[in-house]
Amino acid sequence: PNNEGSSAESHIDDLVSKLPPKEGLVLYKNYWLWPQTAKNIMLLQDIFKPRHDDIILATNPKCGTTWLKALAFTITTRHRYNFHDHPLLTHHPQEVVPFLEIPTNEDLSYVETLPSPRLVSTHMPMSLLPGSIASHGCRIVYICREPKDAFVSLWHFLKRIHGGHAPDLDSMFNRFCEGSLPSGPFWNHCLEYWKESIASPDRILFLKYEDMMSDPVRYVKKLALFLGVPFTGEEEEDGVHEQVVRLCSFEMLSGLEANRAGNLKLRPRPNVVYEKSAFFRRGKVGDWVNYMSEEMGRKLDYIMEEKLKGSGLVL
Ligand code: A3P
Repeated sequence: PNNEGSSAESHIDDLVSKLPPKEGLVLYKNYWLWPQTAKNIMLLQDIFKPRHDDIILATNPKCGTTWLKALAFTITTRHRYNFHDHPLLTHHPQEVVPFLEIPTNEDLSYVETLPSPRLVSTHMPMSLLPGSIASHGCRIVYICREPKDAFVSLWHFLKRIHGGHAPDLDSMFNRFCEGSLPSGPFWNHCLEYWKESIASPDRILFLKYEDMMSDPVRYVKKLALFLGVPFTGEEEEDGVHEQVVRLCSFEMLSGLEANRAGNLKLRPRPNVVYEKSAFFRRGKVGDWVNYMSEEMGRKLDYIMEEKLKGSGLVL
């Protein structure tokens, strides 16, 4: 790195070290983040150079990022690949669409080397996206999930990456309800994208995991239309949209060797490794009942109702 780069970086390290801390996270502009993520987000303000045809897949963690990556990639590249030797048969969905703020062994500027149109993903809240994104008119697809299921999925995931040493379910639940888990508060993350999707529906598509699970074909068509590559009548007759759904289904992807063994190159923070299989657990709606009490369920429902009141968003 040149001197200018490293002094910008040490300035950012200094800023991050002064953010309010809690349980390993820091509070940056009203969101709880891993310190490394906060740093990367600050660095991206200068590094990321949006292009008008960028597509950004935005999610709260555990709300369907992997699925959305697979779908958006398959839809936008369908004229390049066959379904019988498709890249997703040999590559994890997390490998075909990079995260903006979670680098691999490459550095954060890696996405600048990608050809247009770029497909990238992020867990960043709307208000922390590099400011230049809004002015470039990039399209954003947001996927949201029922919070109890998202919480249970997150608990399992953190347990996996911490070798079984994650906090117990009750204390993590309290933190979720306080909004102090990574990328939280969950409700503010959803609300920011929701409001923007209403204000600019041609720029932001707001999807829900449960809707997509109940009618994937309908939402795959909607996604293709939004991304500017609708299925033609001929493609629909040939069942291409159904093939996309099948290839990207939980059953299909979770069974592939490419998604079952080994680790991803993603380096979210020092000493943390993501196993490929950790991104495929159950892929069901309503799995929270197997882990949370009814009382916990009611408590979180009540919090969500209060937080989303008047917004028109129901989760
Ligand atoms: P569960 O833990 O409830 O099974 P993310 O991709 O944002 O990290 O979210 C992971 C969640 O999405 C996990 O939920 C995972 O099983 C589920 N998932 C992964 N691939 C999926 C797919 N193709 N279809 C539906 N759900 C999927």
